[in-house]
Amino acid sequence: MFYYISTFIKNFILKMSTKKQIPLAKGHWLFGSVKEMNKDILGYIGKQRKLLGDIFYVDVFAFKIIVITKPDYIRHVLQENNKNYVKSFSYEVLKLFLGNGLLTSEGDFWRKQRRLAQPAFHKEKLIEITKQMSRSAEALAAKLEEVKQQNKVIDITEYMNEVTLDIVAAALFSSNVSDKMETIRDSLTVANEFAISRIQNPVRWPLWMPVKANRDFRRAGKDLDSVIYSFIESRRKEKDKPNDLLSMLMDAVDEETGERMSDLQLRDECMTIFLAGHETTSLSLSWFWMLMDQHPEEEQKLRDELKTVLDGRTPGFADIPKLKYTKQLIEESMRLYPPAWTIGRKSLAADEIDGYKIAPAQNMMLMTYQVHRHPDYWEQPDKFMPERFSDENAKNIKKFAYFPFGGGPRLCIGNSFAMMEMQIVIATLAQRFKFRRTETHEIEKDALITMRPKDGIKMKVIGL
Ligand code: HEM
Repeated sequence: MFYYISTFIKNFILKMSTKKQIPLAKGHWLFGSVKEMNKDILGYIGKQRKLLGDIFYVDVFAFKIIVITKPDYIRHVLQENNKNYVKSFSYEVLKLFLGNGLLTSEGDFWRKQRRLAQPAFHKEKLIEITKQMSRSAEALAAKLEEVKQQNKVIDITEYMNEVTLDIVAAALFSSNVSDKMETIRDSLTVANEFAISRIQNPVRWPLWMPVKANRDFRRAGKDLDSVIYSFIESRRKEKDKPNDLLSMLMDAVDEETGERMSDLQLRDECMTIFLAGHETTSLSLSWFWMLMDQHPEEEQKLRDELKTVLDGRTPGFADIPKLKYTKQLIEESMRLYPPAWTIGRKSLAADEIDGYKIAPAQNMMLMTYQVHRHPDYWEQPDKFMPERFSDENAKNIKKFAYFPFGGGPRLCIGNSFAMMEMQIVIATLAQRFKFRRTETHEIEKDALITMRPKDGIKMKVIGL
């Protein structure tokens, strides 16, 4: 009896002390907002933000998810009180094939792995990798030259995917990846599609069931494992180890324990870098070319900068800081089209954000896409204006109003890698070609794990 009375009083006090109530987006009594979110999640959340403000619940069947579109609240979750927030449900699905790598691990284990991997991503360490980036960009340019001569229509996303996969594979394993490329590409596609269908579909077959999707997924996993383990095995035997990410991860020694990574851990980290390291960059580049097609004036300014800095040369590490306008264009393009359109988190203990009570084990979506186009923080938010990121203007951007690479301790470890890679690929291609769309409809955004152009971007390659 005493228990019930005290619980009632506690709940009553909690309710009275709650200064603000988090509003709930109206939805179907049983399905909640599932139908609307499946149809157009970005449009739906944008609409609800206008109606309800920067923090609200959406119902997904019996689950309530908090949606956040305010930079200060996002900073609270990702940075100020980050220890109270772990990765949410969607990362569980990624874990199925990434294992316990940097993207999906938590707590002390993640901290140790991050400490071990971080030096491999320092800017100076990336000098070697930029050489590979230039080589891959040149190889792509040669392929596109053929496409141009044949006057073919291509889906630019496929070509961007190829070059980013090529770069990350070479960065990890140095050489001899091309013969395994097809296996890697096909297996990653199967794994990615499997993860997407599990996130979207409320009916999930247990993994042991012999349905086609499970069988395909297992086969893809096995194929990828055998590629990665063969690299690890042969690297262990090599005397002159190349200076790539695999060597750096293998040589990394934990200062506290003196231990190195096991083969299983190396596999998980390689798989993670493989996936996290190419898909987002490839999408970012694809959206970039779509924007260049729409903004010929800015494209001309890009070409002017390339003429001044490179004058036809292949770009390298030393050119990166000089390609300032190129960088601004990339930043603005990631503002409008952030490949990681949302970041998912789950609270551990109860918390309070600006007077709003957050329950323990509460799932939330931090809406990068909405914040990047929020009228409180961006003038003419839907307009492509690269000058927002000039040295002078960038100082005035509010913290966490722009966070395409996340933030706080879980900030993307590959952000410098990705920026350099995009600068090099763009500078190489834009010195030779224009890409022009062959269709006129607006490209739909497909917000799955990452934000992709639905049905790709059909383009023609045109010489300058
Ligand atoms: C435009 C390209 C990229 C974008 C937009 C991007 C975005 C992100 C975001 C938003 C996160 C944080 C996820 C979270 O907090 O839940 C993240 C984490 C991560 N990214 Fe990237 N990324 C890109 C490129 C890369 C590249 C090139 C690599 C590696 C070569 C990479 C490797 C990783 C890893 C390993 C993590 C997990 C880091 C950790 O939790 O310690 N990413 N990325």
